[in-house]
Amino acid sequence: KLRVGVLASGRGSNLQSLLEQSLGGKIDAQVVLVASNKADAGALEKAREAGIPTRVIDHRGFASREDFDTAMVAALREAGVELVVLAGFMRLLSKVFLEAFPQRIMNIHPSLLPAFPGLNVQRQALEYGARFSGCTVHFVDGGLDTGPIIIQAVVPILEDDSEQSLAARILAEEHRIYPRAVQLFAEGRLRVEGRRVRIAPKADPPETAL
Ligand code: GAR
Repeated sequence: KLRVGVLASGRGSNLQSLLEQSLGGKIDAQVVLVASNKADAGALEKAREAGIPTRVIDHRGFASREDFDTAMVAALREAGVELVVLAGFMRLLSKVFLEAFPQRIMNIHPSLLPAFPGLNVQRQALEYGARFSGCTVHFVDGGLDTGPIIIQAVVPILEDDSEQSLAARILAEEHRIYPRAVQLFAEGRLRVEGRRVRIAPKADPPETAL
């Protein structure tokens, strides 16, 4: 099974959905480490409840982003992580991190990128007057929410939406598509060609012996 390390700074609902899928045997991946830069992240509690090893690495204890990333990379390597999954991890990654896991870091973002990168994403979509929003799973590169897109899901923006109601509608889709993206990676079906991610068709099951 693919060894996944999840980085989270907050509540951890995306972690929870991944855990449910992996512990339920629905995807060929196991979460071997949950790491956070925040000791009070809800994600850590969810991991502990599921019996998954956790690490807290507080970015405030490091002189530079690179030093923090070096510590994070060491923890992930120690756990034998093959795919890094950012789930509400609110830190930009430096080259140190990106080069340690080339094309092996995924992020989920609550908009249809390239629209509305960064923070306060639902507010951006509402204020812009967009009729649709959604979420995006992408590989992480050196930019802010700019990496090659793996999967997106669309949700409508309704007349009386608030940031909260829109966020909840998007979150339900996040919980659906993030485990799917991890499964595609686990099946070895994702190939990055420039900006585009090619998804290979599912291999035929091996023929049964006569
Ligand atoms: C999710 O909506 C995720 O898309 C977003 O933070 C939330 C985390 O929720 N991520 C970002 O905005 C990344 N820039 P969760 O902790 O319940 O998974």
